[in-house]
Amino acid sequence: MDDNRIISGDSASHNEESVEKSLRPQYLSEYIGQDQLKSELSVYIKAAKQREESLDHVLLYGPPGLGKTTLAMIIANEMDVGIKTTSGPAIEKPGDLVALLNELQPGDILFIDEIHRLPKVVEEMLYSAMEDFYVDIVVGQGPTAHPVHFPLPPFTLVGATTRAGILSAPFRDRFGIVEHMKYYETKDLEDIVKRSAEIFHAEIVTQGAHEIARRSRGTPRIANRLLKRVRDFAQVYAKDNIDVEIVDHSLGMLGVDDEGLDSTDIKLLKTMIVYYNGGPVGLNTLAANIGEETDTIAEMYEPYLLQIGYLKRTARGRMVTEAAYKHLNYPINNN
Ligand code: ADE
Repeated sequence: MDDNRIISGDSASHNEESVEKSLRPQYLSEYIGQDQLKSELSVYIKAAKQREESLDHVLLYGPPGLGKTTLAMIIANEMDVGIKTTSGPAIEKPGDLVALLNELQPGDILFIDEIHRLPKVVEEMLYSAMEDFYVDIVVGQGPTAHPVHFPLPPFTLVGATTRAGILSAPFRDRFGIVEHMKYYETKDLEDIVKRSAEIFHAEIVTQGAHEIARRSRGTPRIANRLLKRVRDFAQVYAKDNIDVEIVDHSLGMLGVDDEGLDSTDIKLLKTMIVYYNGGPVGLNTLAANIGEETDTIAEMYEPYLLQIGYLKRTARGRMVTEAAYKHLNYPINNN
């Protein structure tokens, strides 16, 4: 460190984008957490490399912010191959897919984020591409239209989705490696926060890192975002290091409560308690009530509230649990 502040002042060399990139681990050995998944993947990668084959297609599913894109890039680095990155909604028609496939070198990775949002015709075109490395395309229009068989190099499709349940069975079955990403343990998030702080040249005490980790909803993206904001507070208050007090103060200002719930989580639970007597409520009704997209609630908010036992799913809709009433200081209403 070049002075006793928690960060040095040369912001030009630390612009947001390069910092964001440098936060991503490049190899499995640097990747913290998801131990089961890492040990499985390292076997499959090693085996494919020994056989000099492309890695089987990989489907990564789980809540947003857990590192699916990072893992896709790590797989490419570990396999020592190139990677093309796109997303389901970006591929609108078969021609868009053919253009991407056409650029792949043998063994390369095609990463498709939000793969559940691929148009059906594109998904169906991927079937033969994944299974036998070819696509059949129609060239020309009207009477001159004719099918062309288009061979492809062997490649690995890495798909990421927050909603594995809505992928069609034929599509899902074409992924040889299917991995579920879980919310991170607090200890792992603490290590991620410490690693990121080091990259930022910010000094953080263990208790400070622990407090950010504990209030990050099991999600590295949230932990890193909170760390950046806490570091802003620490810098402006000229603190030498990031301690629990500055973390607690900053997270309070950001509307992150003691359990890591943000204003949307709280609005969602309170709406259910106050207007629906704790539920059951349908997801669409709830989303309309709090002014969020149904998908946002389903993918970003509900999974964590289910995980910590503040919500439960029933056949008639979502219900708030006693634990949530207690956390929000509402009297429990047993009727
Ligand atoms: N940054 C974000 N996620 C990470 C992880 N799982 N390991 C290390 N650094 C990370």
